Amino acid sequence: MRRPPVFVSLANYPMPTNSTEEAPKVHPDLESVMFTEREIKERVKSLGKELKAAFGDGEFTIISIINGAVLFTADLMREIDNPVRLDCIRITSYGEKTQSIGTPHVIHSLTLDISGRHVLLIDDILDTGKTIALVDGIIRKLNPASLRVCVLLDKHGRREVPYEADFVGFRIPDRFVVGYGMDFAERYRNLPCIGVLKPELQKPPEWA
Ligand code: IMP
Repeated sequence: MRRPPVFVSLANYPMPTNSTEEAPKVHPDLESVMFTEREIKERVKSLGKELKAAFGDGEFTIISIINGAVLFTADLMREIDNPVRLDCIRITSYGEKTQSIGTPHVIHSLTLDISGRHVLLIDDILDTGKTIALVDGIIRKLNPASLRVCVLLDKHGRREVPYEADFVGFRIPDRFVVGYGMDFAERYRNLPCIGVLKPELQKPPEWA
């Protein structure tokens, strides 16, 4: 049965400044909202400016780690007017777990030739660092002119493999988040905000 939308009381959830505006409805499976749609839009816009400052007007090749980085990549690409090429790489995901499971591996690899090209690797979250370190190694073997890395979220305290991204949207604590491309068992990717999934739902759900 479809659950009715509920309002969630959130300590750090920005309230609308205009008192006549209603608070946006929050998905009932979220314990809290970490970043609203508006906050994400503003940060993606400013990340676009940071990229422009770093790349100038030159061409570069974007490599997006799918599925998680799909929405972030699509929005970020539209904040820059450089000529860009786009390729995607698919890496094993968490499946129905909320913790990294062993060593990630490639499910679908690159198709573009990136030899001698400037590359921007984009991912949703830098967590233990295993995924980005794997993809970084794959890209470097293909002799790009340069490689820079942009992540929307950085769970800095969780690193198992040392790795620093060149561009970071937000640094976040160790919470399992969903929305804006990020999933649990392939659900919640289409939420416009980024929120913390309720702990009781962080188990293989009955619908998985
Ligand atoms: P890492 O290899 O541990 O750095 O994990 C990176 C990948 O794990 C990300 O690209 C995400 O797909 C996934 N991931 C890590 N933390 C979360 C989370 O809080 N929610 C959803 N996916 C996550």
